[in-house]
Amino acid sequence: MTYIQHIGIMTSGGDSPGMNAAIRSIVRTALHHGIKPFGIMRGYQGMIEGDIHELKTTDVSNIIHRGGTILKTARSKEFMTEEGMQKAYEQLKLHGIEALILIGGDGTFRGAVEFFKKYDIPAIGLPGTIDNDLSGTDFTIGFDTAVNTAVWAIDKIRDTAEAHDRLFLVEVMGRDAGYIALYSGLACGAEHIFIPEEKESIDAFLTDLMDDQKRKKLTNIVVVAEGDESGGAQELSMYLKEKMPALETRVSILGHIQRGGNPTCNDRILAGRLGYAAVEALITGRSQEMAGLINGEVAFTPFSACVKLQKPFSGDMMRMIKVLAK
Ligand code: F6P
Repeated sequence: MTYIQHIGIMTSGGDSPGMNAAIRSIVRTALHHGIKPFGIMRGYQGMIEGDIHELKTTDVSNIIHRGGTILKTARSKEFMTEEGMQKAYEQLKLHGIEALILIGGDGTFRGAVEFFKKYDIPAIGLPGTIDNDLSGTDFTIGFDTAVNTAVWAIDKIRDTAEAHDRLFLVEVMGRDAGYIALYSGLACGAEHIFIPEEKESIDAFLTDLMDDQKRKKLTNIVVVAEGDESGGAQELSMYLKEKMPALETRVSILGHIQRGGNPTCNDRILAGRLGYAAVEALITGRSQEMAGLINGEVAFTPFSACVKLQKPFSGDMMRMIKVLAK
């Protein structure tokens, strides 16, 4: 058992729905154990600037259902410098922070790996990103909400696509990962998806489209991850226009709508379970690990393994999409 009196909580990188539910869970679990929780505002940048405030139980009232993050977030360039990290460490000492809980994605844990090489503070991470691109957890906090938002939008697009016999290229978020595209594509019956994890031949796609036209299948929903090597939906549409000028295509870029909104039930429960587990993990002496959910159970993975390893990607769902779209 480790005797901790003060913990710092921070959200960093792109916000994700469910971060507030995680903060609430951490604050209330900490208070239950007699630990004082402190909110570090705007991620690593607020740590550097000492923007750190004690959180009471009422500070996390009525936030479980809200998107965004009450602690705000940022992507700090200064933290990636030695001076930035030194300043952050000094501020933590100044505020009596003895342990940290970091909620964020790949960039947050990359920063953590560098920081903890130099500074020895117990820390536990929570996977908070809509991209679902971290190892050590089946799902990240916010992914389920983002996918549901994408599904909500694509269903509407399908209605109008069908009315006009058009092909729609719908771009979803995911700079380096195609999970939102994969899950929303499958859930919406997309005819095709483009994701960074699987290199798809655009020419094979064109051949499929020509076959579709021959058999009078004119409505097509193509979901494109923003990070796909095709360059995104806009680029792909320009290429299609050049090769098949008669094809009626439209582009719809869903953008940041996917990052906001009320978290789904799954995201709230995931956030609640991991926040609770993170505080207990610090008390039992765990450190520099991310709490995730693997096969329904809480599991801990070292920060370095969460960022270094590519999340294992199974091509099964991709193959399924092709079979089901025929
Ligand atoms: O990491 C989450 C994410 O939403 C990515 O899917 C997207 O590429 C990126 O953040 C956008 O970041 P920003 O809001 O800083 O432009």
